[in-house]
Amino acid sequence: NPNKFFRKRLISWYLQNKRDLPWRNTNDPYMIWLSEIILQQTRVSQGLPYFLNFIAEFPTVFDLAKADETKVLRLWQGLGYYSRARNLHACARAIVEQYNGKFPNTYDELLQLKGVGKYTAAAIASFAFHEVVPVVDGNVYRVLSRIFGVFDDIASGQGQKVFAQLAAELIDRDDPHNYNQAIMEFGAIHCTPTAPACDSCIFSRDCHANKHSLQQNLPVKTKK
Ligand code: ADE
Repeated sequence: NPNKFFRKRLISWYLQNKRDLPWRNTNDPYMIWLSEIILQQTRVSQGLPYFLNFIAEFPTVFDLAKADETKVLRLWQGLGYYSRARNLHACARAIVEQYNGKFPNTYDELLQLKGVGKYTAAAIASFAFHEVVPVVDGNVYRVLSRIFGVFDDIASGQGQKVFAQLAAELIDRDDPHNYNQAIMEFGAIHCTPTAPACDSCIFSRDCHANKHSLQQNLPVKTKK
């Protein structure tokens, strides 16, 4: 079964190669949510010190909800996209007021929160609650399009559907947390946009892009 081969190899690669990041050593949905909001449109190296500052200032969602918005925005300074910080704060207040400070524990409920889209809901649901729901972000598009030779346009609704379908077939139903972390980490540090490490890649013999030298053509993304 090629899908089983893919997920087992990927998770095994991840367990040997992953970076030690603080939000990976916790099941706390608050920490996972905070890290994912900070990491939207932000690199790990840039986001990490902000994450550590936020956790130090606001160890729980109650602390964040209680804080002045000016303080939240001050701690956010330098990250850009300030609507993320405003949504973060509003969301913390909603969780305290509507959920007694306890994060909802399903993908569908998480999706209702301000600033939480499909990707972030899937990340929190799988990392904190082990729900079997695939994350699909830029890393995932790149890894899947290259290895499986998927040429659908990731900027189109039709293309996104194709990738969502493939991702749903591939996810490890017994270990969705590590599977999702693994595919993103593989895209972030191995199957990178311009200089993928194909020579040392566990998938080099099977990878469509590697076999046909199409690494720079995948994923397909039309400018809109
Ligand atoms: N970027 C977005 N989410 C991430 C995560 N959980 N780990 C590493 N990089 C990420």
